[in-house]
Amino acid sequence: MSRARFDIQPVDRFGGSGTTIRRPREIACFSYDQNRQFSLGDSSISYYYPPDLPADLNIGFNTFQKLNDSADEHLDALLDTITALEKETEKKCEADIITWRGMMTKILTAPFDMMNGFEMNATCFQGTIFIEENNEYKNRQKEVQRNQRMPPGMASQEQMMYWGYKFEVLSVLRQPWDSTTRAEIENRQNEVVNNSAQYCSVVKTGIGHTRMVLGGEVDAVWDCKPDRKEDTIHWVELKTSAEIRNDRDMLKYERKLLKFWAQSFLLGVPTIIVGFRDQEGIVHRLEELDTASIPGKVKKVGRGSWDGNICINFTAAFFDWLKQTIQEDGIWRIRKQEKSPVIEVFKVEDSGHGDILSSAFTSWRSSM
Ligand code: A3P
Ligand code: MG
Ligand code: MG
Repeated sequence: MSRARFDIQPVDRFGGSGTTIRRPREIACFSYDQNRQFSLGDSSISYYYPPDLPADLNIGFNTFQKLNDSADEHLDALLDTITALEKETEKKCEADIITWRGMMTKILTAPFDMMNGFEMNATCFQGTIFIEENNEYKNRQKEVQRNQRMPPGMASQEQMMYWGYKFEVLSVLRQPWDSTTRAEIENRQNEVVNNSAQYCSVVKTGIGHTRMVLGGEVDAVWDCKPDRKEDTIHWVELKTSAEIRNDRDMLKYERKLLKFWAQSFLLGVPTIIVGFRDQEGIVHRLEELDTASIPGKVKKVGRGSWDGNICINFTAAFFDWLKQTIQEDGIWRIRKQEKSPVIEVFKVEDSGHGDILSSAFTSWRSSM
């Protein structure tokens, strides 16, 4: 079957600041609880409250309740949430693209991430392209990551992953702070870390000519969700990062900022809290980043290792092209191989929507 190719390089052709961006607005939300049970609404929302420092992220590693995410969840939770919204509003949620925020992050960062690859599945239904992660690829990547040898003296991948979740637990409250007791704040240290619970925001946004509906996890809200739907929500993204000791670390951190920025920019998360940790997993200081000003800082005071405008213009152009490429049903693979400067798109199934779309969703949409 024929392969369509979209060149990522040279990225200079995507320079400038001409692309219009629609501010992401939350249209719905859903939650998973500690047992990974799905529900509509915000039952798993968390409230930011700074951790006590220094914070030891190792504590409780032996009791970590880690989610097994090897099963393929497709777009199910996102589509169920959209269906519920459409039933409530009696209006079709129009978009050119519906996908997880994680897929968009991979596209948005592709111009400055030669090394990594990705594989996604896509299908077109009622004029919208639905994109999911290719689950076999995801599981293969995880296996590679698990088997990666760490230099002697360094923490294992598993331990470092725990640090990230532990930092989140130490930095949030289950209720707004004015409804939380001092004892509850102090008890965060003893909480068992369980990464099944999540709050996911579903937003409407747009880049260039492409309207998108994206679903993605948000870690916490700064204060409270505003009562008025049109008001922006002060979301907070929590991150840990190794303390910067030299120029090499600085460059590494700057590259990491690309991921932080892309992930938060897409859902409209205005603030990122970075907990800087040492090699032993102890956080000694916090830094508050304003998402919107990250690209400017990287350009002006950093090494300029990436350019946010190029990412945005590239994404706009890629989706203009993708909409021309995927216009019928069937399943398409969207693939970038490691170290490759191109994104390939090719058909892997001639008709239908595979498992990308649940039958509940296609039946609902066909009955509208
Ligand atoms: P850090 O980002 O602080 O390392 P997120 O920041 O996206 O909310 O993710 C929370 C944590 O999940 C991360 O914390 C990290 O511990 C873990 N995590 C997320 N994506 C990961 C990946 N691709 N590989 C390993 N761990 C990951
Ligand atoms: Mg998170
Ligand atoms: Mg986080």
